[in-house]
Amino acid sequence: MNDMSATPVVASPETVEKKVFIKTYGCQMNVYDSTRMEGILAGEGYAAADAPEEADLVILNTCHIREKAAEKVYSELGKIRVMKAERNASGKDMVIAVAGCVAQAEGEELARRAKGIDLVFGPQTFHRLPEYLARHRETGRVVVETEFPAEEKFGALATRNAAGHGVAAFLTVQEGCDKFCSFCVVPYTRGSEFSRPLDQVLAEARGLAAKGVREVTLLGQNVNAYRGAGAAGEASLARLVTELSRIPGIERIRYTTSHPRDMSDDLIEAHAGNAKLMPYLHLPVQAGSNRILKAMNRGHTADSYMALVARVRAARPDIALSGDFIVGFPGETEAEFEETLALVRAVEYASAFSFKYSPRPGTPAAERDDQIAEDVKLDRLHRLQALLMEQQQAFNAGCVGRTLPVLLEKPGRQSGQMIGRSPYLQSVHMEIPAGGPHIGSIVETRILGVGPNSLSGQYVNHVA
Ligand code: 5AD
Ligand code: SF4
Repeated sequence: MNDMSATPVVASPETVEKKVFIKTYGCQMNVYDSTRMEGILAGEGYAAADAPEEADLVILNTCHIREKAAEKVYSELGKIRVMKAERNASGKDMVIAVAGCVAQAEGEELARRAKGIDLVFGPQTFHRLPEYLARHRETGRVVVETEFPAEEKFGALATRNAAGHGVAAFLTVQEGCDKFCSFCVVPYTRGSEFSRPLDQVLAEARGLAAKGVREVTLLGQNVNAYRGAGAAGEASLARLVTELSRIPGIERIRYTTSHPRDMSDDLIEAHAGNAKLMPYLHLPVQAGSNRILKAMNRGHTADSYMALVARVRAARPDIALSGDFIVGFPGETEAEFEETLALVRAVEYASAFSFKYSPRPGTPAAERDDQIAEDVKLDRLHRLQALLMEQQQAFNAGCVGRTLPVLLEKPGRQSGQMIGRSPYLQSVHMEIPAGGPHIGSIVETRILGVGPNSLSGQYVNHVA
């Protein structure tokens, strides 16, 4: 999960008049949403700006998961407002928009507190961006749109390849969450679980394949709770994976993020039987103590999670497991934290994301009066991260000497070098012989070396 990234925008040159700068905070879902906004705006004649000061439209696509998310947005807005004033002084305008989860949560408050904002809209309504821009232009007033019309959630979206280089794309299949973990804002900001109809997802995947996409990552806050309406009744995620794997050109399928409670038998079975389903599973557990898991309202125990991991590994022994962890949830004792360490030791993760608990206004855990001191949380985070890093390095080291299929995604830093992904989502770089396979090829690669975040390999041969 990247903390923040600027998203480049591309438009056809003949329509270019205006420039947009989108700053994306948070998860892959947001990165994907930003690319959808790019697509919509390209159709409106917006091209990429390299910096916000050059832009006619600046969008902050915000995320609420991170600590002090709202404060960071307010501070960024302060800087952008100065740029707006400078542009105004030279006779140019700048429209400032705040999108995403912080916009949804703060609503009118944002427009009130941060002067100079023109548009505020939540995650599900960005496809109406052209309408908001027009309304703002015509009325000169701040447009706040944080009510979200469910039936329009996925209607008529301009879709673009999120990865940017044409080979691996994200595809949103599910949004929202009904789980109400006691620390989390997502059920409030993203609304309840909703799945896109099966045919719509398949049509989008066919379109991506026609443009050269070979790997799709299915996105959803609770992606394995997917229940897409289909001709033969509701389709599960496993059924969707089966249907996707029949699309010519689609060679690899991934999905994220899964909840342990929704890890159904047919999905586990798909990991055993479907070669296109990559051996990587992001399955957050959050904590290792049953008392804390209960207080988090997770709906699973440490034992039921371990039993699930055992079933997944029986289906696909080499699967790379990843997780999310929270340390210092209110009331967590040292012994309870050590249960998280014990669970991590037992699972052996290939990668992981870990966070200090951070109170989110409006969530039950934030109301508790047994909050853990910052220095204790930080100490626990460091200990957990040391263990997780050790495991990640061990997993990577275990790949040395193996020959893995790598999907080539982009050129490397040096000439002749290419970078791609292994089935386990590791980044792999290698030398490619002159006139050899191009981006989009899957090549057998012998893994020779290992770093914490990438592997180096030797090209063996071109397989697909
Ligand atoms: N504090 C810390 N971490 C959180 N997450 C979600 N809400 C909070 C919070 N209040 C983490 C969880 C989740 C990931 C996306 O972010 O681990 O799985
Ligand atoms: Fe948040 Fe829990 Fe839903 Fe994940 S499952 S989005 S952590 S409420």
